[in-house]
Amino acid sequence: MSRDIWDPAAYARFADERSRPFFELMARVGADRPDYVVDAGCGSGELTVELARRWPEATVEGFDSSPAMIKQARELGARPGFEVADVTRWRPDRPVDVIVSNAVLQWVPTHRDVIEHWVEALSPGGWLAFQVPGNFDAPSHRLIRELCASPAWSDRLGDFDRGAPVGGPVDYLDLMVGFGCRADTWETTYTHVLRGENAVLDWISGTALRPVFDRLGPDEGGRFAAELAGPLAEAYPSREYGTPFPFRRIFVVAQN
Ligand SMILES: C[S@@+](CC[C@H](N)C(=O)[O-])C[C@H]1O[C@@H](n2cnc3c(N)ncnc32)[C@H](O)[C@@H]1O
Repeated sequence: MSRDIWDPAAYARFADERSRPFFELMARVGADRPDYVVDAGCGSGELTVELARRWPEATVEGFDSSPAMIKQARELGARPGFEVADVTRWRPDRPVDVIVSNAVLQWVPTHRDVIEHWVEALSPGGWLAFQVPGNFDAPSHRLIRELCASPAWSDRLGDFDRGAPVGGPVDYLDLMVGFGCRADTWETTYTHVLRGENAVLDWISGTALRPVFDRLGPDEGGRFAAELAGPLAEAYPSREYGTPFPFRRIFVVAQN
């Protein structure tokens, strides 16, 4: 991404829901004593710290293309190390034992090429683990697309259809086996229970709506969000206990 569209505070609001898939992903990575571990697209770094905790003797590094995220991550302390870099250009200077990428590759249209580079960067027996949302057909994304294409917004957002850039578990199984890896791929649909009046809008404001806000600026971005609130509330009816929000995610763990 050329500009920094990320807001660490907006993203942090749902830390629990977002970290659970990370732990479920990492539970399938069997690396015992890796020497070099990289978190690609580490965001604000809290989960990179979990990697450092799991493998205290390893060199653990996180990188992200967002300077705002890396600034926040560096405040966590000296270990792990963090740097600004883009997944499409990042190349390690030595073989990596574990590459982890949680909820990043859906932003990268050329991510299949990136995955190929990562497999090449692995040490013999090294692990690659990534997780991407598979919810591009969900009502939340469909409603964003419909509003972008509506007469009120199509002049500025008409070209704004990111399609479905990620594959399903079988696509990634084919891909990883094609690269010569052993692979385990699966999907899980979580039912998150979101709180607050505009719970789903708050959720997507931290991720899927970032590029829209970036393009529109704060005033018009706010207007766009306000127009989305009604249809979202209708698509995701709230209960007394909160708003159930189904969220499908795709998991890939591969060993070189
Ligand atoms: C949904 S957040 C996930 C952050 C972290 N992995 C986590 O699980 O909390 C997506 C992250 O991907 C980063 N990102 C998006 N495109 C990227 C790219 N081309 N290169 C590196 N990082 C990228 C964003 O800056 C953002 O921090």
